[in-house]
Amino acid sequence: MAAALLLAAGGAGAYPDGAPWGASDPDATESCASCHYDYEPVMDSAALSVEGLPEIATPGRRYRLALAFASDTAVTSGFQLTIRGAGKDNGMLVTRDEDVEVVGAAGRSTSPRPVGGELRWHIEWQAPDAEADCIEFLIAASAANDDQSPFGDTIHYKAVAIDVAAPVGD
Ligand code: HEC
Repeated sequence: MAAALLLAAGGAGAYPDGAPWGASDPDATESCASCHYDYEPVMDSAALSVEGLPEIATPGRRYRLALAFASDTAVTSGFQLTIRGAGKDNGMLVTRDEDVEVVGAAGRSTSPRPVGGELRWHIEWQAPDAEADCIEFLIAASAANDDQSPFGDTIHYKAVAIDVAAPVGD
């Protein structure tokens, strides 16, 4: 595995379309830090935030979100978002950013973005139609050094949990 990765890293780009799906879960076998392992990952990173996400979302409503990453060290960065909950329906993502791809309730950057100050990836989330307790937004972003390899990068993780419930009075 390690040898395969080294080989891959020397090529034209092992993951030209972005990190493998599910990698923003720190407990996943193929999590970001399993390949980008030079530095200890930052858990519950203060540098990562989801702007525009309420604590309680309204079923079926669309929210314009921005995944913001404020890193002092990143030269380039990429992110991934995995939304999961107890039920099957965790809503749906939409994006207009050209370097972001969404599939159902997951999103990822498809190429590293240069960092000049704070970085924002824009994404819209349509909440599921049914009420739900504890929908988790698992986010990972890398403070990368732009050497086109998995080395010398620090992974930041953040998990945000919200509920989906009809507003009181409806
Ligand atoms: C299975 C291994 C693997 C996983 C998991 C993985 N990466 Fe990577 N990553 C690589 C390899 C190999 C490269 C270099 C080749 C390339 O760009 O595809 C790379 C390159 C990158 C780069 C460019 C780095 C630079 O300094 O130029 C970024 C940014 C990045 N990954 C972010 C992420 C993020 C964020 C995650 C988790 C959501 C992730 N990666 C998960 C293997 C992985």
